[in-house]
Formats: sequence, C-alpha cells, structure tokens
Amino acid sequence: MNKRDLISVGDFSRDDINNIFKLSKKLKKERKGGRTSNLLKGKAIALLFEKPSTRTKISFAVGISELGGYPLFLEPETLQLIRGESIEDLAKVLSGYVHTIVARVKKHETIVSLAKNSTVPIINALSPLEHPCQVISDLFTILENKGRFKGLNLAWIGDGNNVCNSLLLGCALTGVNMKVACPKGYEPALADKAKQLAENSGATIQIIVEPKEAVKNADIIYCDTWISMGMENEAKERLKIFPPYQVNKELAAHAKQDYIFMHCLPAHRGQEVTDEIIDDTKHSIIWHQAENRLHAQKAILIWLLSGRELLTS
Ligand code: CP
Ligand code: NVA
Repeated sequence: MNKRDLISVGDFSRDDINNIFKLSKKLKKERKGGRTSNLLKGKAIALLFEKPSTRTKISFAVGISELGGYPLFLEPETLQLIRGESIEDLAKVLSGYVHTIVARVKKHETIVSLAKNSTVPIINALSPLEHPCQVISDLFTILENKGRFKGLNLAWIGDGNNVCNSLLLGCALTGVNMKVACPKGYEPALADKAKQLAENSGATIQIIVEPKEAVKNADIIYCDTWISMGMENEAKERLKIFPPYQVNKELAAHAKQDYIFMHCLPAHRGQEVTDEIIDDTKHSIIWHQAENRLHAQKAILIWLLSGRELLTS
C-alpha cells in the first residue's frame, strides 16, 4: 500500500472524509463509555512543532497514547536542524524510526518537503496555507450539530487565512455553501481551488467584502484571529483594518435563529469576537469543537496508517 499524507483537505476524497467521520463517531462513543482500542499499538508518532500549540499538540499526544501508540515530542531547537541538517535528510532519517510524522511548520514548503522525502505518512498540524486537522474535525462537529451538510450556509468573517483555506476546501467537498467576508487584499489563496471542487458537490463558494451580507441566513458563523502566527509584524496594520469584521451581537442578529458559532481557538476576545458571542452557550459550540479534535485526529491517524479494513472489523 502506498503511504498517504494529509497536507491539504484536498488530499482526502468525500469517501475518505465520510469514513473518518464514522470512525470518529465510533471512537468518541467508545471513549465516553470508558473503552479504548489498541489500534496504534507499538506505533511511534513524531510530533514536530515549529510553532506554539495547545489543542493540536495535546490532543494528538493523548489520542496516540489512548490508542496504544507513543508520541515523541520533537522540539526543533533540540534537533540537528538548528545546526543546518536539512528537512529532506530529517524526513529520511525519521522514516526509519517512526510510523507517522505530525508537523506544524513555519513555511508550507517544509511540510511538502517532509511528505516528499519520507516513507511514512505526514500530517499537517498547521502551515501558513492550511490547517486540515482542524477542519476535518470541524466538519465532524458540524455534522453532529446539524445532522447534514447539504444546504447549510457557513459565513467566515475576517482574514482569509490557513483555517479559512482548509474550510473552503472542506465545505466544497461536503456541499456546505460558504461565504467569506474579508477586507480587500486579505482574500483566501485557495478560493479558486475550492470553487473547482464545489462543482461536484453543488456548494456555492463566494468571497465578498461585507460581513452582514455573509452572515445573512447563515447556519454557521466561523471566525479566527486577525493575526495568525508568523504575522506578528503586521499586527498594527491589521488591528486598524479588521475591526469591522468583529463577530458581535449586532452582526450575529443577521444569521438564522438557530445558528452555531465556531472558532478554532485560541480566541482574542474583544478583537475578532466579543465575550457575549463566544460565551453564549445557546449558539457557541467552541468547547465541543475543541474536544472533537481528539476524536477526529485519532480517526485520521488510524485511517492513514491502517485504512479501510478497520472500519469493517
Ligand atoms: N486550533 C488550534 O490548532 O489550536 P492550537 O494552536 O492550540 O493547537
Ligand atoms: N490562523 C491561526 C490558527 C491558530 C490555530 C494561526 O495560524 O495562527
């Protein structure tokens, strides 16, 4: 079997994603019932993080351990990388030791290079271009909450960043209509790719400027920081441009009455979202969303490592 990577949401077919949802549901139910499966028994999984992380790093580590595998935390500053060893060589060496590499990288090219040079699966745990683990998990959360994808309207408010790009591909694949409202110059890089993908599912993908127009009739409102990791030098300018894109009560009033609010976290309260929106448990599902990272990432690991036979067992 050829190895498979998860660099982009677009690496998965609709079928892959459906199976990952089934597996996530099963693993979640087992865990809630106090049961675990040893599906990663004896597997060493490297966690290589070049940027900070709370949710991704911890949920992968817990998930791997619960499935009988063992997570290896690789701090880049303690590896020979800092003395000039190349990513290509690191990928080849690690392929001889570990069964999967989960990596959060400063440059998207790094994750592409890891995938090209390793013989084990590579999982993108966030790059400047995409955050596929977040979005596959979020789609699972949407399915749990709304029971379907087709016909749902998702409004993305703010920067056309990595999470936005992955969400565009995920919505295009599953049939969720997505409107991105962002300032001119901050459009998502993968909008055209998403529009192409959407031709199969029938989803509509629109990139607009006006937040109210995006939120009108929305089933889901989603936002993220205005200043992603690595963009700190643009903070001053962004804090001037983005305030009209804050998700607050006035904006949310344009959504459907039973809308859900989502945020990948960490949130910058008072910037992209107000406390009254993020803490409104009638609509906000952020804690539930964060928890599902654990279940969905377990499913992703199993899917990449062991594949289809597990679903039938
Ligand atoms: N949402 C997310 O990826 O969070 P962390 O940066 O804490 O991993
Ligand atoms: N867009 C954010 C997501 C953090 C989980 C970032 O890249 O910093």
